[in-house]
Amino acid sequence: VIREGRIEFDRVTFRFGAAEVPVLHHISFTAEPGKTVAILGSTGAGKSSLVSLVPRLYDATEGQVRIDGVDVRDIDLDHLRSRIGLVLQESVLFTGTIRDNIRYGRPDASDEEIEQAARAAQAHEFIANMPEGYDTMLGQRGVNLSGGQKQRIAIARALLVRPVILILDDSTSAVDLGTESRIRAALAELMRGCTTLLIAQRITSVMDADHILVLEEGKIAAAGSHAELMRHSDIYRDIYRS
Ligand code: GTP
Repeated sequence: VIREGRIEFDRVTFRFGAAEVPVLHHISFTAEPGKTVAILGSTGAGKSSLVSLVPRLYDATEGQVRIDGVDVRDIDLDHLRSRIGLVLQESVLFTGTIRDNIRYGRPDASDEEIEQAARAAQAHEFIANMPEGYDTMLGQRGVNLSGGQKQRIAIARALLVRPVILILDDSTSAVDLGTESRIRAALAELMRGCTTLLIAQRITSVMDADHILVLEEGKIAAAGSHAELMRHSDIYRDIYRS
């Protein structure tokens, strides 16, 4: 069972089906419990593929992904996924009320718990301002939320589950500055105590990470803390300056 949330990638190679060129080549790193590992790389570098191996959306072709020393393939899939929070850019909301969307991973959650999670996710205010509040319908015949609002619903959902491991895509592309700082505050709250894999395209979002992997064409091109990479990595300094 997953307790601490130490994630280890041990010479992981991954290819889609019978594709010749692997998407990930010999990736090894460890994310220590409670720490944040940021994965920085341009589009197509393999960031999403890498994190998808943790909740087993895909399985490694070679090598091993371990959590707390156990190969993820030997962990009960429901248990594995119940301990991992996913806040991705296109967070999945379904047709149903806001309340149902927030309690998706914890159907037994009380209304108080749901509101508490929404407050911590900086979502309570916009929800309370809707005519039907938490009973507002989302989806096909319901209201349409903005990207930033959807993201905060996804954060509230993850907060309710209190996962051990968090997989986060922190791109906050289409939101105004006020919303962006609110989302950052919500993410900081969510990340407390979680082992976090943070997908990033911009250097400003990785500078505080405990460890940074620079991914290029499926390979780790550089790794270290921001200070270490600034000292030793030409690739990282180039990204920093651009
Ligand atoms: P962005 O999400 O654009 O920032 O890219 P990324 O760094 O997350 O890369 P990703 O892991 O999504 O993709 C890595 C490579 O795998 C790219 O060359 C993709 O074209 C390829 N790829 C992604 N999904 C699939 C898939 O479902 N099937 C196949 N065959 N290739 C895929």
